[in-house]
Amino acid sequence: MCGIIARIGEGDAITKLVSGLENLEYRGYDSAGVAVQNGSGISVYKRSGQVSELKDSLVSSVPKGNVGIGHTRWSTHGPPTDENAHPHTSQTDEVAVVHNGIIENYTELKEMLREKGHEFTSDTDTEVIPHLFEQYLEDAPDNVTAFRQTVRDLEGSYAVAALVDGEDAIYAARQGSPLILGLDNGEYYLASDVPAFLDHTEDVVYFEDGDMAILEPTGVTMTDMEGNRINRDVEHIDWDPEDAGKGGYDHYMLKEINTQPNALSNTIEGRVQDGEVNLEDFPPGTFDNVDDVHFVACGTSYHAALYGQQLLSNAGIRAQAFRASEYVDASPGPVSENTLVIAVTQSGETADTLGALRQAKTEGAQVITVTNVVGSTAARTADEALFIRAGPEIGVAATKTFSSQAVTLSLLSVRLAEDIDGASLPGDVDEMLETVYDLPKHVDQVLETTNARAIAEKYTDSESFFFIGRGLNNAVAKEGALKFKEITYEHAEGFASGELKHGPLALVTPDTPVFAVFSGDGDGKTMKNAEEAQARGAPIVAVASADHDVIDIADSHLEIPETHPVWAGLLANVQLQLVSYYAARLLDRPIDKPRNLAKSVTVE
Ligand code: F6R
Repeated sequence: MCGIIARIGEGDAITKLVSGLENLEYRGYDSAGVAVQNGSGISVYKRSGQVSELKDSLVSSVPKGNVGIGHTRWSTHGPPTDENAHPHTSQTDEVAVVHNGIIENYTELKEMLREKGHEFTSDTDTEVIPHLFEQYLEDAPDNVTAFRQTVRDLEGSYAVAALVDGEDAIYAARQGSPLILGLDNGEYYLASDVPAFLDHTEDVVYFEDGDMAILEPTGVTMTDMEGNRINRDVEHIDWDPEDAGKGGYDHYMLKEINTQPNALSNTIEGRVQDGEVNLEDFPPGTFDNVDDVHFVACGTSYHAALYGQQLLSNAGIRAQAFRASEYVDASPGPVSENTLVIAVTQSGETADTLGALRQAKTEGAQVITVTNVVGSTAARTADEALFIRAGPEIGVAATKTFSSQAVTLSLLSVRLAEDIDGASLPGDVDEMLETVYDLPKHVDQVLETTNARAIAEKYTDSESFFFIGRGLNNAVAKEGALKFKEITYEHAEGFASGELKHGPLALVTPDTPVFAVFSGDGDGKTMKNAEEAQARGAPIVAVASADHDVIDIADSHLEIPETHPVWAGLLANVQLQLVSYYAARLLDRPIDKPRNLAKSVTVE
């Protein structure tokens, strides 16, 4: 977790570092700090709280410097205090370091350094890095060698940027945590993610695991951990910087909900032609040898994976969605080259998902990832990547990426059903593929006509919020509940509608609205289950098309356009996203940065 940034070039670094950190805050926001070289030592400014608080504390007397590093933190080792905030410095303040990741052998390193007289002032694992670097600086022939020796001693995951007092240089290394170089005509940036420097440059180099770099005013030198020079391609990112800003909306989440028509158009573009699915690197026949499919994913991406699993099961393909954190222990049975493992991850950096992906790869499975981030670790580690093309998502609560993941997986399910022996395409596949291009328009319709705000006002004072659905809509119900609890802090649960009567019904009262999802598939039973809850006093909020039978019995209605059931579930999800958003607003929650969470969870 955490976001790091570094910058070297002409002119003052602080403003650029701080604005970069603001764009990285989705990775963590419990403390922040910067350090600059200014000709009279390294100056460090850090504190608990959000980047805005750091910014307010940086008054005009802050010494200037053209080279600096910055960090926004999501605590793993030690609480979010000023002392635990990064950058961390060495014994004599000769070295300052920012770090994203976890140093697994920090206790041993700390012990060894203590024996040599080093004293530590924080609870963090990171603090060993500047101390170790300083220790190696004593005897190493040069600073580069000392840095190399330092990172070679580290076990675990890291993206590190370091300053050495008196030197116009930034030392960087990557192992297991994302790190990207930005190149801007004599100015160089390092960051955990592109939005940190997107205002300045769109030319980037992605670090691979084991890469090191030294950034100097004259250029960047990249090497491996043995010191051998390496060249990585410069890639051009075509993200609009506006995409990384709020664009006039009060929250990123609202912007991301509202820009789903555009995101979905991008997801779908060119992927259905003349009634056929066309998936770039996955031409017909790609999956001829697949017997079983495993999805591995976390959180919202897991719900998208459930959507995919249901579609594959409907097509007669053996498919199972696993929570990535459980995959290693879940004993899914032996995997082989005939097992297709699909890692679904928006960020492509989720540690649990990467762990499952790597394990599957080691065991010989075919591994692909469905991800939003080109250049992410998942995209680089999997055999192939299928990009959802949703554009940057900043709000911690995933919205547009769920929709784009579910659509991508729906199209992938058609390719798999075509390829895999014994599988069968759904009878209405033609209608499904014909109507996919209507999806952005239908989402627009939902956004323009929604009464989600009124529904949120009506029910926000309730005690608990239940979400039910069957088949594909089970995934939608679970996603609706996750979104609701995540940003409102209210108790919410999502169930397969048939499960309500096997326990949860005991909790149902007039104070537990039940949001029931109807998409025209398996609806009859969901309606019966909703009525069972209603008979116990629960108000029913039906998410359904205008002429659905449930409207006659529902207490409230969130309307979705009539379309193919596979897309209708996603329209229902948009309505539920909006209910969560407006409920969180009424409760005055920090919608884009819910407490205790972070956008990219790079710890297991
Ligand atoms: C919830 C949410 C998280 C993520 C999860 C996986 O709104 O955003 O549950 O879905 O942390 O993240 P990715 O998709 O980046 O692997």
